[in-house]
Amino acid sequence: MNHFLTIEGLTRDDLGSLLDDADEFVEVLHRPIPKVPALRGKTVATMFFEASTRTKMSFEKAAKALSADTMSFSPGTSSLSKGESLKDTVLTIKAMGTDAMVVRHTATGAPWRIAEWIEQPVLNGGDGAHQHPTQALLDALTIRQHFGTLDDLKIGIVGDIRHSRVARSDIQAFSTLGADVTMVAPRTLLPVVPEVFDAAVSEDLDDVLSDLDVVYVLRVQAERGGASVFPSLPEYTARYGVTKERFSRLKPDAIVLHPGPMNRGVEIEGAVADDPRALILDQVFNGVAVRMAVLFRLLGGEHAE
Ligand code: NCD
Repeated sequence: MNHFLTIEGLTRDDLGSLLDDADEFVEVLHRPIPKVPALRGKTVATMFFEASTRTKMSFEKAAKALSADTMSFSPGTSSLSKGESLKDTVLTIKAMGTDAMVVRHTATGAPWRIAEWIEQPVLNGGDGAHQHPTQALLDALTIRQHFGTLDDLKIGIVGDIRHSRVARSDIQAFSTLGADVTMVAPRTLLPVVPEVFDAAVSEDLDDVLSDLDVVYVLRVQAERGGASVFPSLPEYTARYGVTKERFSRLKPDAIVLHPGPMNRGVEIEGAVADDPRALILDQVFNGVAVRMAVLFRLLGGEHAE
């Protein structure tokens, strides 16, 4: 593995072994001193050309927990505003000496382009509405921790699937790991060609709710046009919102996940988000461990201990 750009093409064994490594890093993160020297002397640059709370800080925490140094690029205060190109920006940061770049960009494919310009590993922290591979790993890890396996689990991904890079990566990862995935959304928020996804389709959340083991809730991606394709947010919430009432109709051991950022009261009711069966903060914690696993794999540390 030279880069970590997409879930597409990873086998069940590839995913399983990354999750196994992540389990070991979960153990490291629970130690009194949650740090190992594996990547001492390496530098990881985080280059987020699009807003982020979780993913950027999680990659930085992961790099530091492996004893790597971090450098962080912020587009708002950078020379992008003076007309510098993406390529010159990347080559400038590379020239300072960085061993890996974590990239988030609004443009689909940007991390692949950067991987052509530099020989160091590039990690995709989310490109357009395309891929978000470490999110899929942390989601799969959270589900595997809870149920022991993804095999034959019924997972409903609910909401703005059309504009979601999380949904794309998750569907590939969950189905490769043996789960039975259903995309639940109004037609206008389903992928344009749903058949290319390894998932069933339902336009009626109430119809599938009681069968699901995992309800994976997505934000309406207003910035990508998601809010303009249904009549109003209250109507969306009425039909697709994971309310307390809908939550009460789930199987007793079903769990709720959300990649964040949440819009409480829109796609998920606050009381559901705060329920112990909503593992949203476990997802955040696991994000650090899976990013440690990927950084460790790419930067070839010798021993984790
Ligand atoms: C998502 C993203 O940016 O792709 N968040 C995340 O990384 N956890 C989802 C979103 O913005 O809705």
